[in-house]
Amino acid sequence: MSTTPEWLVGDPVAEHDLGILRSGKEAQIDLIERVGADGRTCLVARKRYLPRSVSSKGQLEAMGVQRASTFRHDVEYREGRQFRKTRDRRAVEQMSTHGKKLLQDRWTNHEHDVMRTLWDAGCNVPYPISFADDRLDMEYVGDQAQAAPQLGRARLDHDQLRAAWTDLLDGLHAITAAGWAHGDLSAYNLLWWDERLWFIDFPQAVDIAANPNGISFLHRDVVNVCTWFARHGITDDPEEVFADLLDHWG
Ligand SMILES: Nc1ncnc2c1ncn2[C@@H]1O[C@H](COP(=O)(O)OP(=O)(O)OP(=O)(O)O)[C@@H](O)[C@H]1O
Ligand SMILES: [Mg+2]
Repeated sequence: MSTTPEWLVGDPVAEHDLGILRSGKEAQIDLIERVGADGRTCLVARKRYLPRSVSSKGQLEAMGVQRASTFRHDVEYREGRQFRKTRDRRAVEQMSTHGKKLLQDRWTNHEHDVMRTLWDAGCNVPYPISFADDRLDMEYVGDQAQAAPQLGRARLDHDQLRAAWTDLLDGLHAITAAGWAHGDLSAYNLLWWDERLWFIDFPQAVDIAANPNGISFLHRDVVNVCTWFARHGITDDPEEVFADLLDHWG
């Protein structure tokens, strides 16, 4: 995590689709084996954003939007994200065809860019390798036998829970210090692997300073995860955790 995995980012000479890792409402994650020029192989998680439902597909396509559920909240999440040109800003405000296309393009690049920023900041996120054609390739967390379990399904013992809690606070500090709020943090967007906690699933991450709702998204994230840990015997006051994050923000 601390050094750029050069081999991972190099152009593969071949890749093999090993099948679906997880299929959810918003995205499908495929497991891909990449073969490098020197014959070495590595596993990559490929996230493909899905249309929400077949019934709304035509309408979505007409709008140039692949993700209906997230798109509904798009304006709320995106408020404050800068469109440099006045024409573009106005198009987004008016939700014209051009505005919707701009939002769609931003959305699909956003997760990659946020993960890259956080990886650079030392946060434990899978390394985002590349983004193209509505799919994100990233470091796979797991091994040949199994993918990393979500924290909510990982069945940790008490010592591991304590370690996960420490990792959670460290990660939240790193994310907040970098100026971001995850926006959808829960025990199901955290993975447990190699005795460490990994943060995933960032398409709705918001810039805390620029987004008028940034602070409340951060607060909601903190309450969500504190509630989960409290149910598993690790109790801390969410308001204190939140206040401490804000103290160290920016
Ligand atoms: N890099 C990765 N390595 C291993 N597993 C991963 C990776 N990224 C995602 N997954 C698995 O795929 C699941 C879904 O990924 P993610 O949370 O990014 O998408 P999502 O849009 O929230 O999908 P869902 O609707 O299923 O929650 C994760 O909970 C995790 O189990
Ligand atoms: Mg998720």
